[in-house]
Amino acid sequence: MPATGLRLAMIGLGTVGTGVVKLLTQRPEHLRALGVGPLHLKTVVVRDSGKVRAVDVGSARVTTDFDLVVNDPEIDVVIEVMGGIEPARTRIAALLRAGKHVVTANKAVLAEHGRELFEIARQADRAIVFEASVAGGIPILAALAETLSVNRIQRVSGIVNGTCNYILTAMHERGLGYAEALLQAQHLGFAEADPTLDVNGSDAAQKLAILARLAFQSRVDWRSIRRLGIDELHSMDIQFAAELGYVIKLLAEGEVAGGRLSLQVTPKLVHKSHPLAQIRGEYNAVRVEGDAVGDLLFSGKGAGELPTASSVVAGVLDLATGRGQQTFRALRLWEESPAGPAFEPGLHAKSRFYLRFTISDKPGTLARITSILGEHGISIASVIQHETPENEPGQPVPLIIMTHEAEDERVRQSLVEADRLEIVRAPSVCLPVAAHER
Ligand code: NAP
Ligand code: HSE
Repeated sequence: MPATGLRLAMIGLGTVGTGVVKLLTQRPEHLRALGVGPLHLKTVVVRDSGKVRAVDVGSARVTTDFDLVVNDPEIDVVIEVMGGIEPARTRIAALLRAGKHVVTANKAVLAEHGRELFEIARQADRAIVFEASVAGGIPILAALAETLSVNRIQRVSGIVNGTCNYILTAMHERGLGYAEALLQAQHLGFAEADPTLDVNGSDAAQKLAILARLAFQSRVDWRSIRRLGIDELHSMDIQFAAELGYVIKLLAEGEVAGGRLSLQVTPKLVHKSHPLAQIRGEYNAVRVEGDAVGDLLFSGKGAGELPTASSVVAGVLDLATGRGQQTFRALRLWEESPAGPAFEPGLHAKSRFYLRFTISDKPGTLARITSILGEHGISIASVIQHETPENEPGQPVPLIIMTHEAEDERVRQSLVEADRLEIVRAPSVCLPVAAHER
C-alpha cells in the first residue's frame, strides 16, 4: 500500500460524481481506519465549470480542461463518471496510456469498446475497475470474477435497469402514467443522459453483455442481444397483469443450455409470489446459478447517487491497496482467448404467454382467435374479456388470453395470422411469463 496514498481526478460531477465526492470527503475517519493512506481529489473535469454544484469539492480544481488531468504526472487514478461513448472512449484510452488507472461506471463505453480499452490497459500495465457499471451498488461483478470463479455458471438473470424498474413500479403501485414516472426517475438521477437507452432495453443489454463475459467467458456484442424495452408497454397491460396476479418486470436473462448461450432483454409477467416481483423502485436483482454454489440472489439499489458511488469508491480503495491491479491482471475479459459457449441470439424459448387482442365485440370472435391458437398447438389457460360499457357500443375491446407453455415462434406466428382478421382492430400484444422459481 503506498504510504503517500493516491492522487485522484474525476471526469464528471453529476449524480454519481456528487456521491463520490461525498464519500471521499465526508468520512475521513472511516477512510483513515481502512489504512489506505490519504485519497486526495485534485482535479474535477466537467462540461460547464460555471454550474452551481450540489456538493463542495474542497480544494479540488473544477475545470473543463481534460489536459490538466491527462498531463498531470501526480495523478494516479482517474474516476470516469461522465458517461456516453465519446469523448469517454478517447479519454479513457489517453489516461491509460498516460499511466493512470481508471475507475469507471460507464457500461456503454465498456460494452461498445471494452476490448480495445482493456488491451490498452494491459499494454500500459494499468487497471480498469468497473464494478459500478453493472447494477449500481450490488457487488455482482466481483462475485462473478472472484468469489464464484470456480463455478460453471449456468444462468445469470434479473433486473438490471433501475429506471425501468422504477417506472414499472410507479405505474403498477401508484397508477402513474409512463411519462410522469420516467420524469421522476430522471429527477432522482437514475436515468442515463439519454433515457431512451434505459427504456428501450439497450442499457440492460449492455450490462447483460458485461455479465455474460464474466459469467460465461462468452464474446458477445451487446447489439446482437435480442432486446425489447418498456417504451412500448401499455398501462392497460400492467393493469391486466395485476388482475391476473402478476407484475411486469424488464428482465435481462442469460442461460447456457446444450452448449449454447442465449441472451435476451424483455418485459415479462412475473407472478407476485416470485422473488423478482418484490424488487421495487430503483432496486436491481441478479440471480446467479452456479454448478457448485447453486442458486444465489443478489439484490440492492441498482442506480442512484450513493449506491453507485459506493461501488466507484470501493474501486478506488481496491487500487489503493493493490487489489484492483491484481484482479485486473487476473481477469481474462475481452482477451483474445478461447471463448465460452457460442452465442445464439435467436434461440427459441418455451414459456407461458400473456396475449392481448383488440377485437370487435361480435359473435364468433373468441372462437376464431382460439381456433388459430389451437391450430398452432397453443393451449389456453385463462381468458379475460370485460363487458363493453353500455355507452360505448361498437368500440373495440381488449381480449386477454394466458396460454400454457408454448413455443415462442408458434405464438408469434399465430399472432401474425390473428392480426390479419378484420375483427382484430389493432396489433396484438404478446409478453412472455417468467417461469416460477425451481
Ligand atoms: P450525469 O448526472 O448526467 O453527470 C454527467 C457528468 O459528466 C456531468 O457533471 C457533466 O458535466 C459531465 N460531462 C458530461 N459530458 C462531459 C464532457 N464532454 N466533458 C466533461 N464533462 C462532461 O450522469 P450520471 O448519472 O452521474 O452517470 C455517470 C455515469 O455513471 C454514466 O456512465 C452512467 O451510465 C453511470 N451510472 C450511473 C448511475 C446512476 O444511477 N446515475 C448508476 C450506475 C452507473 P456538467 O455537470 O458540467 O454538465
Ligand atoms: N440508468 C441506469 C439505470 C443507471 O437506470 O439502471 C445504472 O446503471
